[in-house]
Amino acid sequence: MHKIINEGSIRLKAPKTEKISKAMGVFYNPAMGLNRDISILLLNAINRDNLQIADPMAASGVRSIRFLKELANSKIKRIFINDYDKNAVRLIRQNLEINKIKYKNNKKVRISNDDANLFLLNSTGFDYIDIDPFGTPNPFLDAACRRIARGGILAVTATDTSALCGTFPKACMRKYWALPKKDAVMHETGLRILIRKIQLIAAQYGKALTPIFCYSKEHYMRVFLMSEKSRNNADDVIKRHGSLNGAGPMWLGSLWDGDLTCKMHKNALKNRIFRKDNGLIKLLKLIKEESKINAVGFYDLHDACEKNHIRNLTKKSELISKIKKLGYKASETHFRGEGIRSNIPNGILVRILQNK
Ligand SMILES: C[S@@+](CC[C@H](N)C(=O)[O-])C[C@H]1O[C@@H](n2cnc3c(N)ncnc32)[C@H](O)[C@@H]1O
Repeated sequence: MHKIINEGSIRLKAPKTEKISKAMGVFYNPAMGLNRDISILLLNAINRDNLQIADPMAASGVRSIRFLKELANSKIKRIFINDYDKNAVRLIRQNLEINKIKYKNNKKVRISNDDANLFLLNSTGFDYIDIDPFGTPNPFLDAACRRIARGGILAVTATDTSALCGTFPKACMRKYWALPKKDAVMHETGLRILIRKIQLIAAQYGKALTPIFCYSKEHYMRVFLMSEKSRNNADDVIKRHGSLNGAGPMWLGSLWDGDLTCKMHKNALKNRIFRKDNGLIKLLKLIKEESKINAVGFYDLHDACEKNHIRNLTKKSELISKIKKLGYKASETHFRGEGIRSNIPNGILVRILQNK
């Protein structure tokens, strides 16, 4: 059973179901609308046109159809929409028709029904690849890293946050070759562990992958990595792997391109497609602020007070202005409500918390 729904500027035939799960037939999760919004904002914000785009796990086709409708005309040279599920491919065709997008004899739109790895490996490469699987992206990383073009962007979603954030440390060791830690900073360390894993796979092929935008939200993590074909740069990427608070190894470089983040936030405010109450604007604003601060990890206020036996918790906004008055940078973090990202040394922060 299907129903017609709206997402962004498109209409879509999607499975009628109460429960979002792998077993729902063709998969469609309205909560991931924000994930797709961010892909669109990012691709519209980068200074590149004529992109060869791959959507290897397209399900209903919602992401690609939104790309076709919502990316600037100059952005897409060709888009490849693939899924190994026959029902998904049937639905993708129907959804293209509903949105009046020609796919027969249209060089710009290619549909296929292959395994994602075969689809990627049989191609000549892409400027944008979106890996959006159920659970871990691991099975698709090798082919994606091999087929991402010079200057291309590899987007990866991971929903196995329980491994990355330390609920199952052995699973994280096996799958991501790093030790996670279940603490206040776990979403950031998990994200950095995921980034390192992807970077290591790309490094095998002489590619340097660096993050340009990432975030963690509810049940998933999302990273956008820019690819450069350069053995030296790949070596430099590896040099920036290390540990944080007993977790790791992980990527210790920056997570965001500040200018890109500002542009995405500005464009989201301007475009009425994005002005809905899914937390997008708030998330982008938070990330815009934290992208200006060069600090790995953040302070958790409850942790800091507990460790230092401080009873009266200073209000977060007050604390941020006090830190700034001392000449340090500070902002909230999207990773955690009680978190503050700052380059202030721990000792000075504790003195502020103690009102000394
Ligand atoms: C989480 S859904 C993708 C959601 C979609 N990208 C979106 O934005 O709505 C995962 C999809 O991957 C497909 N899939 C899983 N393993 C695959 C494989 N090895 N090759 C191709 N498609 C695969 C499934 O059929 C499913 O449609």
